[in-house]
Amino acid sequence: MENLTFAHMQEAAELVRSRHPSAPRFGIILGTGLGSLVNDMEVETTIGYEDIPHFPVSTVETHSGKLVFGKLGGKSVVVMQGRFHYYEGYSMQQVTFPVRVMKLLGIEKLFISNAAGGMNPNYKKSDLMIIQDHINLMPESPLRGKNLDELGGRFPDMSEPYQRALISQAQTIAQQHGIPCHTGVYVGVQGPNLETYAEYRWLRQMGADAVGMSTIPENLVAVHMGLPVFAVSVITDLAHPDHLEPVSIESVIAAAMAAEPRMKQLLTELIAAQ
Ligand code: HPA
Repeated sequence: MENLTFAHMQEAAELVRSRHPSAPRFGIILGTGLGSLVNDMEVETTIGYEDIPHFPVSTVETHSGKLVFGKLGGKSVVVMQGRFHYYEGYSMQQVTFPVRVMKLLGIEKLFISNAAGGMNPNYKKSDLMIIQDHINLMPESPLRGKNLDELGGRFPDMSEPYQRALISQAQTIAQQHGIPCHTGVYVGVQGPNLETYAEYRWLRQMGADAVGMSTIPENLVAVHMGLPVFAVSVITDLAHPDHLEPVSIESVIAAAMAAEPRMKQLLTELIAAQ
């Protein structure tokens, strides 16, 4: 598999700048069933992933792959419509390549959404959970290998993986707009299978409120680059260990779509407040 270097990132950023010269201030990654945020944007430029050198191309039909530039909440943003998951077979370097390119394009903060299974017994389907902290159970790190000194140091500090100021701003916005919202710990697993009863019980006992298959790799490269991160999960299925029900991708997408208006409002207001 191609070893992605700083030069590859510069090359990708160069192509993007040739199509959209002005720098976006904020990067946004949209999760499963949450792609319609772009409908609320004033879109200026759209670039298919296949046009960007070294960008992976989406393999999951539920994710359409493009970078969308424009204004959201009056601020210039770049949205990744379609993200990459480790379970699709990409290396962690590929999964996180777009985040590194967005940083080279000039983003100041990264906003991430995802779909996750809720293990906290107080959570209901389609609830939102602001990610306060995470537990990484993924089998590989995007930071493994030769350190890219151009981007950051060898041993990133993880004392504030999700920026506290953004968390409290989002909590205030949720309160002001009557958006029900939890704040909790996300545990990241490789997938693509969902968890067994025993695994959900174990994940809950280790201190996690929700479980998913994304976000942590992107978070790690962002932290490595000194990029503040905000992330929010939509609880798409209830993994309460004692009443587990079969979960289908259709039900995950339906639950994500039901939450989408609240997710969009939260993200848009939060970005408008920056
Ligand atoms: N487990 C892991 N990942 C998920 C889940 C889940 O229950 N729901 C959505 N993504």
